[in-house]
Amino acid sequence: METWDTIRARRNVRRFSDDPIAREDLDRILEAGWRAPSSMNWQPWHFVVVTDRSLLEALSATGPGTGHVASSAATVALVAYHPEDDVHARWLQYDFGQLTAYMMLAAADLGIGSGHAGVRDQHEVRRVLSLPDDTVCPYMVAFGYPADRPLRPVGTPDRRPFEEVVHWDRW
Ligand SMILES: Cc1cc2nc3c(=O)[nH]c(=O)nc-3n(C[C@H](O)[C@H](O)[C@H](O)COP(=O)(O)O)c2cc1C
Repeated sequence: METWDTIRARRNVRRFSDDPIAREDLDRILEAGWRAPSSMNWQPWHFVVVTDRSLLEALSATGPGTGHVASSAATVALVAYHPEDDVHARWLQYDFGQLTAYMMLAAADLGIGSGHAGVRDQHEVRRVLSLPDDTVCPYMVAFGYPADRPLRPVGTPDRRPFEEVVHWDRW
């Protein structure tokens, strides 16, 4: 897909078809995240890639908005060691956001849907994925082919008015 079309086609997909994602496509999505920028290039992240159905089902119970993980073809848990202070905690959130966008856009470029999933139950995600005790997994990203309709550029996205959001020179 052309880059601008990819940006406009990405949307949260929460219903996935049964089709698997080819390994080379999954590798490209992961590489996109790996290539993402991070504060001071500290790259705090680890990606735990989950395709096992029983693990996906267990992960789908770790937050109120994580149900779609169960039917995904693959879900990537974003993991980092517990940040040492508030500054690093802020960096971590920003960096996770950046890598998520990279992965999602790489997926959309391949026609693969993606959906954020915020993890509330940290104890459970650590148990399911055998994560070290001193790690956090604030988000997962679910991937799979959309069950509803293919990704196409969205003409009018559900967004606040552009003019209300964009300020030129001053507020
Ligand atoms: C930080 C963050 C956390 C999110 N957490 C969830 C979530 O737990 N479950 C979910 O279904 N969607 C989640 N979303 C998706 C948003 O609801 C979605 O991006 C927003 O409604 C805009 O829709 P769109 O992505 O289709 O454009 C999250 C998005 C972000 C950026």
